[in-house]
Amino acid sequence: MKYQSQKVAAPYFVAALALFVGQIVFGLIAGLQYLNGTFLFPMLPFDVAHMSHTNLLIVWLLMAFMGAAYFIVPEEAQTELYSPRLALITFWVFLVAGALTIAAYLFVPYADLAAATGNAVVPTMGRGYLEQPLPTKIGIVLVALSLLFNVTMTLIKGRKTSINLILVGSLWGLALLFLPAFYFSQDTVKASFGWWWIVHGWVEGDWELILGALLGFILIKMTGVDREIVEKWLYIIVAMTLVSGIIGIGHHYYYTGAPAYWIWLGSIFSALEPIPFMLLIVFAFKMLLQRRREHPNKAAMLWALGTPIMAFLGAGLWGFIITLAPAQYVMHGTNFTAAHGHLAFFGAYAMVSLAIISYAMPLLRGRTANSAASQRWEMAGFWIMVFSMIGITLALTGAGIVTVILQRTGDDPMGFMQVQDRSRMFFWIREFAGVCFFGGLLVYLRSFFMVGEYEYADEMKRALAV
Ligand code: HEM
Ligand code: HEM
Ligand SMILES: [Fe+2]
Repeated sequence: MKYQSQKVAAPYFVAALALFVGQIVFGLIAGLQYLNGTFLFPMLPFDVAHMSHTNLLIVWLLMAFMGAAYFIVPEEAQTELYSPRLALITFWVFLVAGALTIAAYLFVPYADLAAATGNAVVPTMGRGYLEQPLPTKIGIVLVALSLLFNVTMTLIKGRKTSINLILVGSLWGLALLFLPAFYFSQDTVKASFGWWWIVHGWVEGDWELILGALLGFILIKMTGVDREIVEKWLYIIVAMTLVSGIIGIGHHYYYTGAPAYWIWLGSIFSALEPIPFMLLIVFAFKMLLQRRREHPNKAAMLWALGTPIMAFLGAGLWGFIITLAPAQYVMHGTNFTAAHGHLAFFGAYAMVSLAIISYAMPLLRGRTANSAASQRWEMAGFWIMVFSMIGITLALTGAGIVTVILQRTGDDPMGFMQVQDRSRMFFWIREFAGVCFFGGLLVYLRSFFMVGEYEYADEMKRALAV
């Protein structure tokens, strides 16, 4: 860590991990409710558990992205952050607003919450991931403006590297793409379009650029490869993301009343979307092979190499399985979608967040890398979480196959609830894998509480000498 003000990233990272734990607890509860429909009812109905699970996911990822921005932008710009104090105030505003929102979900019936927070005046509530009441949404905009002001001012006064331009540019994109959240048409088709532009504009467009910038930063730092090489790769990845992702969102327009040419446009362009994820893998491993130093933080390198592979599997492969129009025709809204959603969100955005946390947290705590024992725990956490998430994905894929065969195809399709009954085994496997995932998360968190300085002094000296 080169600049004092980078320290403001630490509370963001710690809060992100705490909220991550909350997300998984609600996931486990929702998973149990699949097996026992009255579990915790009426105290905590399924819709509330589900909403808390997905909203906590988005909030912790945003926390991690913001922490990453406050860590990376000053270092890349070679200057202190414009206002560390503003970044800290913003942190507390975001954390308190996020916590109050989850508490409101848990303790206030959703309709009452809507009535109490002005949803009748400016309707925004109810769509997946965007369930937040109006004051929270306004809070999100203010937090985003504060972040953008801070990092943009830092960028203006400092060095303008490609990584910084891509990172700050995509943070602007993230905030602008959130604005359709304030437009909720009475017409459900129009409302759906607004929703896709936000959520899918994020995950299949803008956030991919953040992913690229974060990975690029970590890989430059860890491998010592020339910046020019990294930048070339990043520009190709950014271009491919935008070429495929923007029109690729058309994979949601099939059979919605949009013109029929979207069947072709959506299918063809979204079928190209795996390419940038594939390029990220090639990029990461090329950097590894061309490395000019052995960085002592092995755990961070593991995250940085694991991220593009898992992102490719979740977004690229599982996305591709469901993306062509004939596939969507029978798979839309089945557990195939949930399988893809889990592996893609985890593989791309959860893992890149854990990668930057893994690289930055030791530095923020005053050391190049954690002790060997601590890294062993962290890497064990990595493997347990990765394999558990693959387990969740395969279980949900199994449930998806059951639905497609029994309910979506054939001459005598079964009813929805009967099909749910036939899928029980897969829901048990999902829950079992979920418990393992939680165990992996605890193992991972344990690594933060291990005392002991870095053990290989020689190796560290060599690493720093390059
Ligand atoms: C980092 C890890 C995880 C991520 C990124 C994640 C992400 C998501 C996402 C994006 C959804 C919405 C899916 C959709 O609407 O299609 C979801 C729903 C859900 N998740 Fe997770 N999740 C994670 C871990 C877990 C775990 C460990 C469990 C527990 C077994 C779990 C159980 C559930 C359940 C039951 C739902 C509701 C599915 C439905 O509506 O049918 N998740 N999760
Ligand atoms: C990291 C990037 C990605 C993430 C995090 C992600 C996440 C998700 C999530 C959570 C959903 C469910 C939304 C809902 O609640 O209805 C979804 C739907 C979908 N995704 Fe992705 N996705 C990513 C990339 C991709 C890619 C690259 C493709 C195509 C190759 C793709 C194809 C689809 C399709 C076709 C649906 C609609 C499924 C349906 O409506 O049943 N996704 N995605
Ligand atoms: Fe999409």
